[in-house]
Amino acid sequence: MSKANQIQAPKGVSEYLPPQSRKFESVRHALLEPAKSAGYELIELPVFEDTELFTRGVGESTDVVSKEMYTFEDRGGRSITLRPEGTAGVMRAVIEHGLDRGQLPVKLYYSGPFFRAERPQAGRYRQFYQVGIEAIGIQDAALDAEVIAIADAGFKSIGLKKYRLEITSLGDSASRAKHRVELVKFIEKLNLDEATRTRASINPLRLFDDKRDEIKDQMASAPLLLDFLSAESLKDFEDVQKHLKALKIDYIINPRMVRGLDYYTGTTFEFVHELLGAQSGIGGGGRYDGLMAQLGGQELSGIGFGLGIDRCVLAADAEGISFDQEFTSDLFIIPLGDESKSRALTVAQELQNAGFRVEISFGDRALKGSMKAADKSNAEYVLVLGDSEISSGTVELKQMSTGKTSSVTLTSLKDYLRSVSGK
Ligand code: HAM
Repeated sequence: MSKANQIQAPKGVSEYLPPQSRKFESVRHALLEPAKSAGYELIELPVFEDTELFTRGVGESTDVVSKEMYTFEDRGGRSITLRPEGTAGVMRAVIEHGLDRGQLPVKLYYSGPFFRAERPQAGRYRQFYQVGIEAIGIQDAALDAEVIAIADAGFKSIGLKKYRLEITSLGDSASRAKHRVELVKFIEKLNLDEATRTRASINPLRLFDDKRDEIKDQMASAPLLLDFLSAESLKDFEDVQKHLKALKIDYIINPRMVRGLDYYTGTTFEFVHELLGAQSGIGGGGRYDGLMAQLGGQELSGIGFGLGIDRCVLAADAEGISFDQEFTSDLFIIPLGDESKSRALTVAQELQNAGFRVEISFGDRALKGSMKAADKSNAEYVLVLGDSEISSGTVELKQMSTGKTSSVTLTSLKDYLRSVSGK
């Protein structure tokens, strides 16, 4: 086929092919394990949802909703959107299936692809991968600290060191209302274009997140929400910090942090990697008090995070972390002739079921080609299975690293491999 005929992946998507996909798998595993250890359970949700879930849940002032959603009409004329994040979908499912009527908090973890039509660059993709957790139904600073600790444990287990944790509090609704009055007054006096004013009228906090110098300069003296926290919100924020200290998790307070999604209240946090340049957020999350009610459920608070698997892979590379990712097979079987193929399949099946990684040389290759394939797959042992081996029931097992051969009967192969591999 000519090159012009070939189809390429859509612009800006991340893909993981072997051998790099092993790194992806290791990173995802490292990020998921701490959540499982803390009693979170898997929730697997559709990658597309009713568009209204995100406009209502994530918020219309956000870039995610206003500019970055992959929205289309399905064949039934419904407006569908590829999920740009996971929290709204989890909340939809919790409400729809009444999970909040059982034991609280409802503790769920998920991982999978998410979609945002952003301008692609290193670490920013249109399809990317997250590991996330949500703990719904209990308002407790200790839970906030545990959620942060779970993310931190994931990063540590990858081996990451050069990252920092930034936290702040968006307070309760009374704190935000008080701050909003002052912030709106402050913003009224600024020199802003129409679009920015409109954004600010939906959520004035957005202006703290504006990357343009002229806005940043004007916002330098803006009133900060942290200075408006009610006594209760302040106590809560101090408790979170006390627990983080007990857990020996370092953090800095960033009172200007604005998360890209509108549902946050109370504790919010971001993990920032120091070697990743512009797209340095490797994970973030926080509390969301009003989201459940906003989506038609009861008034329950929740907290969670989303960790970027793609960015963690990049961060691991940037820190020179190598994974134990040599692909090795325990045994490579080379069948000679048609009869021996069936036998090779059954021998491999038995050994695979016993936990060994076993490969077969397929496709009637000459012995030399098969030996090369065995070498490439880094197999520990190789055996040739021809008519004479089948009739005698004995094979020559060759250890690839030493070239040593041993005669082993087919019936004792499993025990032999067990004794030499310790599996
Ligand atoms: P988020 O901060 O929008 O939060 O995304 C979480 C993480 O996903 C980011 O820190 C980043 O590592 C990764 N990420 C986001 N966008 C991209 C992209 N275009 N390309 C590559 N990686 C990306 C949320 O999504 C919330 N749902 C987290 C949460 C859960 N809050 C409460 N519960």
